Amino acid sequence: MTLTQDELKKAVARAALAYLVDGEIVGVGTGSTANCFIDELARIQHRIRGAVASSEASRQRLEGHGIPVFDLDKVDAIPVYVDGADEINAALQMIKGGGGALTREKIVAAVAAKFVCIADGSKLVAVLGQFPLPVEVIPMALGHVRRQLAAIGGGTPVLREGFVTDNGNLIVDVKGLSITDATALEARINQIVGVVSNGLFAQRPADVCLLATANGVQTLTAD
Ligand code: 5RP
Repeated sequence: MTLTQDELKKAVARAALAYLVDGEIVGVGTGSTANCFIDELARIQHRIRGAVASSEASRQRLEGHGIPVFDLDKVDAIPVYVDGADEINAALQMIKGGGGALTREKIVAAVAAKFVCIADGSKLVAVLGQFPLPVEVIPMALGHVRRQLAAIGGGTPVLREGFVTDNGNLIVDVKGLSITDATALEARINQIVGVVSNGLFAQRPADVCLLATANGVQTLTAD
């Protein structure tokens, strides 16, 4: 029986429940796979104290299920952060931000002790970059950042039209990259004045990836 992409997302969302720490806060990501996780969380919400959300959309979905949502600065520790990815490689470095929530995702991931990435098999790639790399930009710096991104070379920066992040900023998607040193590129783009953050999660990769395949949920750890 072939599972649909939706069924694969539900399977990894369910598998991620095994990583929860009872009585603690869980960090919750953004996107369609994270939404499946939120729906699974609703079933076992008595086990957790509450959640920290990486976006307003996830906050609303969590609250819609009656799950308490805490501001990050009111929380001392997040044992586990569960989120999807647009691409992930064997080192568990990721491109994220297809939903535009990359900065808050990066902040919650930085606080979390463990990052559990949940993804369907289509997200696993040999080389990151086929998915356009999102960069969150302070609006007044748009022209400068676009020119600087173009000067790095290898990709084409394109403004995500009509999109404003939860932080009131813009997203530039860099298309056509082939990223061989994700840690260096993440740092280099962050050096551009006017960049808030970029969607490479290489300095802080995932600790575990639960990957849904036709043969079941595989657990990947970094090479
Ligand atoms: C949102 C993200 C998401 O995790 C990423 O876009 C994957 O989304 P989906 O689970 O819908 O494929 O980074 O900013």
